[in-house]
Parts: sequence; C-alpha cells; structure tokens
Amino acid sequence: MIGQHLLVKKSGPLYGTAHLYGAKNAILVIMTSLILTEGTSVLENVPNNADVRLMIVLLEQLGASVSFDTEVKRLIVDTTYINKSEVHPEIMNKIRASILVMGPLLGRFGTASVAMPGGDLIGMRPINYHLEGFKKLGAVVQLQPPFASARMSLRVLPLSTRIVLEYPSVGATENIMMLASVSNTETTIINAALEPEVYDLIDVLRKMGADITVAPAAIIIKGVAKLYPIIHTIIPDRLEAGTLLLAAAITGGDISIPNARADHLDIFIEKLRAMGHTITTGFDMPENTPVGIRIQATKTPCAVNIKTAPYPGFPTDLQPLMMAALCTAQGISTIEETVYENRMMHTKELSKMGAQITVEGSTAIIRGIDTLYGSNVIAADIRASCTLVLAGLIAEGETKIAGVHHWLRGYDSLDSKLNNMGALISLADDSIIAVDDQKQIQISL
Ligand code: EPU
Repeated sequence: MIGQHLLVKKSGPLYGTAHLYGAKNAILVIMTSLILTEGTSVLENVPNNADVRLMIVLLEQLGASVSFDTEVKRLIVDTTYINKSEVHPEIMNKIRASILVMGPLLGRFGTASVAMPGGDLIGMRPINYHLEGFKKLGAVVQLQPPFASARMSLRVLPLSTRIVLEYPSVGATENIMMLASVSNTETTIINAALEPEVYDLIDVLRKMGADITVAPAAIIIKGVAKLYPIIHTIIPDRLEAGTLLLAAAITGGDISIPNARADHLDIFIEKLRAMGHTITTGFDMPENTPVGIRIQATKTPCAVNIKTAPYPGFPTDLQPLMMAALCTAQGISTIEETVYENRMMHTKELSKMGAQITVEGSTAIIRGIDTLYGSNVIAADIRASCTLVLAGLIAEGETKIAGVHHWLRGYDSLDSKLNNMGALISLADDSIIAVDDQKQIQISL
C-alpha cells in the first residue's frame, strides 16, 4: 500500500476565520466513560480523526453499537450490550488512550484486562499512578507483561479514600475519577490534573449522575450506585486553536476563531502577546466572555522563554509548535520541557530546515534567524507533524513531511482549514518521494 506525506509550500500571510472541532483529548476519554452507562448517548462536535475511529472499533469490540455521522460530527453510542472486559492488544498498541477503558470496565463489570501501552518516542509513559489508584479503590491488580488485569475485591472500602498523585497525571486522574464515580466510598484525588479536558469529563460524569466537586488541586467524588446515558457537546480543541493561531503568527497573518476558548489558553496567549502579536479575546469585548480569539500577527516577532507545565501552565502539546514560531523570532528564546523526558525530536527536523537550535538536557535554546528552508523531514508524533507544517509555511521552497499518520490521528481536515485561509498544504503519495527518503521513512516510523 502506498503511504502519504504532507507537502507544504511557502505560503503568504493567513487571513480568515476557522471553526474548531471537539478536543481529541476530551472525546477519547468521554467515549470510554460511556461504558459506565447502559443505553444510548449522543456526543456532538466529534472530530473525525483516526484516534476517534480506533476508539469506535474498540467500543464495538467490547459489544457497543456505534454510529458516526462525520458530516454533522455526531457520534451515537449504545452501550447496552457491552459484554466484554478485555481489550484486543492490537487496538491497545495503536491507541494509547485505550488505557482509559480500564477504570470504566472495572466500574461496570468489576474486571478489566488490557495490554499495557508501553513507552513511545516522547517518553516512557508508565501507568503506575492509574494502577495504584485502582488498588486504593479496592482492585486487585495483576501485571503479566504485556498485560495488566484488575478485578474488584470484596474488601469493604473505608467511608473516605484519599488518593495522592505524585504528579497531576491527566490520564490517571480521569481513570481514577471514572471508577470512583461508581465506588462505595468518597474519594479525594489530591494533586489531581485540572486540564480543560478533565473538566469536560467531569461535566459528562455529572450529567450521568455522578457526584463530583472540584477543590483547589483536588477532586472529590462521592460514589453513586448507577450512571445514565447523556447528550453532550465536546469542548473546542484548544490544541487545534493553538495550531491555527501559530500558523497565523508565523506567516504574519490575521485570523479569527470564533469558538476558541481563551480561558483554556491563558499562558499561551500571554506568550503570543509577549512576542509582539496583537491578541483580542472575548474577554476584551463588552460581553466579557472567554469565547473567541483573534490574532493580528506582527511581522517582527521577538524571542520569549517558555517552560511547559500541567494546566494552567504552558501546554506541553503546544511546545513543539511554539518552537517552530520562535525559529524566526528576533533574539534568543529558550524552551524547557518538564512533562515528557524526550519531547525534543522535532528540534533535529527543524534544524534540517536551517533552524539554529541547541538542546541542553530538557532545554532548547533557539537563535532566531531570517528564514527557514524546505527539506525532507519526519514527524515523530502528532504535535511534531503540526510543528513541521508550521515551519513549512514560511520555509523557502517545499517541505515534505513523512509520518502523516500522526497528523491524521490528531486532526479532522486541519489542512483544509489552513488552506482556506491561504496555506499551501497537500497530502501526496509517497511514490513522489525519492528512494533514499523512502528508506529513511521506513526505518524511522
Ligand atoms: N506519568 C507517570 N505515571 C503515570 C501516568 C503518567 O509517570 O501513571 C507521567 C508520564 O510519563 C508523563 C507525565 O506523567 O511524563 C504526564 O502524563 P499524563 O498522564 O498527564 O499524560 P496522558 O494522560 O498520558 C494526556 C494527553 C497527552 C498530553 C498529556 C499532558 C490524552 C489522550 N493524551 O496524556 O496528549 O500530552 O495528557 O497534558 O489525553 C497529545 O495530544 O499530543 C498528547 C500527547
């Protein structure tokens, strides 16, 4: 089968308006949360990306009936006949977020068996916090690599249970919260993740009938006997918003995203302003709402320093993209990555395009230059694929990006959205790439 690559040509400033689809990192966990209910739920604003389609296959393998109207972005899931609590290893290997079925399966059936997702190129990504949380809630966990299985014991739980996360892990917070929602105890997750996607899950669980309170850096869940199907619209994707804003920033354009949530991107927006870009949000309007973001980009952006952190800190998922924008900012910028131990692979690819970047430990030092040059590059993860697209928009000539499956995993027609505003991006068959590049791609993916 012939694969594809992204071909990006130097583009002028982007102008126009774009609409965001639902957040990938919210829809995936919300799909797994439906396992806790019996009946038909309806999800709106669902992006038609490869990860969502894999999650549909996973739910169908467990026994759910799913229909996805990709035109209107509506997903209908009937979980009545889910009757399996084991996930096929080949699905687990394709989609890391499938670990998020474990809490819901334990909650509904008292048993769950999954293949452990293992590390990937950005880091080791263990699941120890998830499993420790399940144990606190009465599960007996068995590890027989590559499998992790758990079953609920008959142990009587105390009236209240404290689960302390060493790090505010998004996935562990979500998995523990889903199991705790139907447990016989009041659970307090200390040092919980409070990303917007976690809040969207809380919103969904509350609609299902869960009793959840959010306190500073903690989430308190009083278990209930039963949860019910829901209708829910997924929050707009703040990472898609970040990608579009940076595409306008890097090309010196002017774009508006009427449904973007400024309160999901506070520090990111402040950094764009510090670079010299003019950002107007719903907060600057008489209505004073968080909805709506416009960027009017400066032609002479300046360097800034960035350090990634859990929300509300600078999101790790926008770190590689910000690096692309800083390659041509005036002065020296630094970016420190604190969430993942190895999320710097894009620096090598940006360097192939002429960027002046040195990496010392977990910090990249970027010396701004006038322009980048099109090259053959490889995307190693979802966000690296956008990073290279952004760089390609201002690079002289053409940029050929391999690893397109990462782009397709995370976004629904983002290339079309960018093209509608003036970008020159196309998906082309790999047969167009020279033989040497093909070898490199096969080795690297
Ligand atoms: N960690 C542990 N033990 C655990 C869980 C996490 O040590 O049991 C470590 C991880 O190895 C990592 C850090 O904690 O170094 C943060 O991991 P976290 O659990 O918060 O991340 P996640 O739930 O696996 C989600 C997103 C990621 C996003 C992170 C951080 C989904 C499906 N994925 O992953 O999204 O980077 O939160 O915000 O929600 C992406 O979209 O490109 C992406 C990687």
